[in-house]
Order: sequence, then C-alpha cells, then structure tokens
Amino acid sequence: MNLAIVGSGYVGLVTGACFAEVGHQVICVDNDLKKVHSLQDGHIPIYEPGLEELVKKNVAAGRLSFTASIGDAVAVSKVIFIAVPTPPQPDGSVDLSFVEGVAREIAVHIKEEYRIVVDKSTVPVKTGEKVAQTISRYNPGADIDVVSNPEFLREGSAVEDLMKPDRIVVGVSSNRAVGPMKEIYTPFNAPIMITDLNSAELIKHASNSFLSLKISYINAVAAICEASGANIERVADGMGADKRIGRAFLNAGIGYGGSCFPKDISAFIRISEELGYDFRLLKEVETINRDQKERFLKKIREALWVLRHKKIGVLGLAFKGNTDDVRSSVAIAVIQQLVAEGAEVRAYDPKAMDKARSLVPEVKMVAQAEDVADGADALLVLTEWTEFKSLPWLAIKKRMLSPLLFDGRNLLNPDEMRSLGFTYTSVGR
Ligand code: UGA
Repeated sequence: MNLAIVGSGYVGLVTGACFAEVGHQVICVDNDLKKVHSLQDGHIPIYEPGLEELVKKNVAAGRLSFTASIGDAVAVSKVIFIAVPTPPQPDGSVDLSFVEGVAREIAVHIKEEYRIVVDKSTVPVKTGEKVAQTISRYNPGADIDVVSNPEFLREGSAVEDLMKPDRIVVGVSSNRAVGPMKEIYTPFNAPIMITDLNSAELIKHASNSFLSLKISYINAVAAICEASGANIERVADGMGADKRIGRAFLNAGIGYGGSCFPKDISAFIRISEELGYDFRLLKEVETINRDQKERFLKKIREALWVLRHKKIGVLGLAFKGNTDDVRSSVAIAVIQQLVAEGAEVRAYDPKAMDKARSLVPEVKMVAQAEDVADGADALLVLTEWTEFKSLPWLAIKKRMLSPLLFDGRNLLNPDEMRSLGFTYTSVGR
C-alpha cells in the first residue's frame, strides 16, 4: 500500500523503514530539509541497531523515499501517519502544535480521494477527535477517517519491537478504516486490536505510566531492601516469577528517564486532571523517581564527604543502554548535580558522548571507558550498557585513587567487584 509518514524522527523513521521492509511503498516526510537530504544520501541521524541497514536496503529497492513536501506525499498515499514530536510544556501538558500544524497541512492537500490520517505520535486522549475536526475545518469536503495507532517501540530495540510487536492497537471512529489498517499490519503477524479512538490513545498513556509505576515500585522496594539487608534482585525474581506480575521492568536503579516515560506520565496526570480525576498514584510514581536519583547522590556524598575537587569517573550518559539518546537522562541529571557541587567529572559512553557534550560542557569526555578511572576518587555506572560488564575492572581499579564504585544500574556482580578490591555500592543489593 502507498503510505506517507510525516515526521522522520525515531518513531517516523523506524516505522517508515519497517513498513517498507514488509513491502509497502513509503514516503517519509520531514520539514527539516537538511535532514531530508542527509537521509536521501543514506545518513541516519540516530543510532538505532539495525536501522541503517534497513533504510539503505529499502531505499535501494525503491520502496522508501524522503521528501520535505507533505503535498507530494498526500497526493499519492492512501494512509498518512502523523509521527511528529509532542514535546512537554512547563506545566506537564504536551505541546500539540506540531500535530495540529501537520493536520492542517494535510487537510489542504487532500483532494477528492478518501484518505486515512493516522496519529502515531503519543498524544493525550481526545486528540484524534481534534485532528478530525481540524481537517474538516480546513477542508470541509475532505473524505477522511482519523485513526489512533500508538507506537510501543523502545529505543535501542526499535526495529525489533516494530517488526515483532506484542500487539497492534488501532483506534477508529469508522469501520471504513479497519480494512486498510489491517492490510498494512497483516505482514507483522501480531494481534490487531480494534478499539475506539479514545481507548487507543489511553492504551498508550496507561501502558507507559504503568511501566513507570513498575520501576518506581521496585525502586521503593529497593529502599526497603537497603534498610533491611534484603537483595532487590532476589525479591524481583521472586515477584516476577508470578505470571500476573512478570519480571520485566522490575530492575531497580537510579530511576527512569528518556523522552517518553517522564513526559507521558506528566501528560497523563495533566489530562486526567482536565477530565476531573486527580491521579495521585502517578504523582507518587514521579516523586519516587526523583527521590531515587537523590538517594544515589546521597550515597556518593556519604562516601566522599565533600565533592568539591573530587575526581569522579562516569560510565554512561545515555538514558539507557543501546541508544545515543540523552533526553531526560538520569545520568546527565546526576552529573549536573555533581558538577554543581564542584566535582571534576570525566565520562565515557559508547554512543552518547556527542549528544551529551552541550548538556554537560564541564565534563571531559574520554575516548575509552578505562580512561575515566585515571586518578579518580570514585567511579559511577549510570547507564546499563552491557559492554560495561566486561571491562578490565582490575586494571580500572589500579588506575583509581580510591576504589569506590557506585553502580546505579545494578549492572555488575557485587561479589566479583568486591573480590577485585572495590568498595562497591549498588541499588537495593
Ligand atoms: C518506552 C516504552 O518501553 C515503549 O514501549 C514506548 O513505546 C516508548 O517508551 C515510547 O513511548 O515511545 P523507551 O523510552 O525507549 O521506551 O525506554 P524503556 O526501555 O522503556 O526505558 C525507559 C527508562 O526506564 C530508561 O531510563 C531505563 O533505564 C528505565 N528502566 C527500564 C529501569 O530503570 N528499570 C527497568 O526495569 C526498565
């Protein structure tokens, strides 16, 4: 089928590439001309495992192309996906002006043929209704249906998540859109769940908020483990073995970050408030997440006493492993606090150093993980990169001034680290 994806960011680009991979004819649109040209030349602006190969392969096969013109894309595409950013605003709500702007632009380009406009961006409940109203206002004759089709991909495994989804949620306001949406997604061999528009939008916010809740829950239990001498990993394993609970997203650490969870949970609290419900449970999830970072910093202060002029080595800047994304990264927030208290920080991340530089300009980025250890008073692990597990830890210890190791992601084995001579602290273990 001929498809257009408006917005070539994480979601738009990965979705476009995967749709092309299963045989659809896809045009990706972006208003950033530089980005469009660079994508046309085969340069991928983000690090996402498997994406570059997929884009190159499908461009070469003639199934994937890039343009800056919404008009060109709307002219030939039966289904138009909106995948533009919905950035957070200071009051916790999301800025829907990009979605609205794209809806208006799509509207003016729709001619007499039927079009399906699909909202893929994460938006508050009732946005789809507004998109439909907007299109009708700017083009009263437009024969359209608006669909909500939220995305559940995780950064770092986006291609795999999209190619092998747990479920596909399609919220419709008319049955006419169901057939084409099923046709698009049939090649993905996943259950397709048809709902109304509002339910589909809520599924996305409620899912991300629930996953954040799981993380804050386990982080709260980790605090009890620290106070009682229990081990959070054993507790999480025991809980997770119950199929009703599940082990995923029960890894304690310094808290969740990224461009989705913090934003989505605030937006969900905000839209709930607008709809007359005070979502106190989710407010507490946010508070626990903030406290988790503070509890970690407190452990460092307790060990080092004064942070001023202390040399601290940091492993990890990205908001999680396997990505170069540093948006709302807890690692960055921890570093900013250390720097504010006068510490001298050296940092290494396998992928995120370029994107982190402007956020923490005082930090010296080093070329190799081991180099953060030189003369360090303490070393912190702030991102769950698997490759940090196999670093030459003994050699690292020898390069440090004092062997204090704070593992904010419970990535390393406590017994092994202690047997190497580290004074090792992690979260809830
Ligand atoms: C999240 C969801 O997992 C996706 O399903 C969703 O589509 C996406 O948001 C989105 O809305 O676009 P993502 O933000 O890429 O995906 O990252 P996650 O893997 O969910 O991790 C989020 C944060 O939680 C990271 O900072 C991670 O370190 C932290 N986390 C995750 C934990 O602290 N503990 C865990 O057990 C799991």
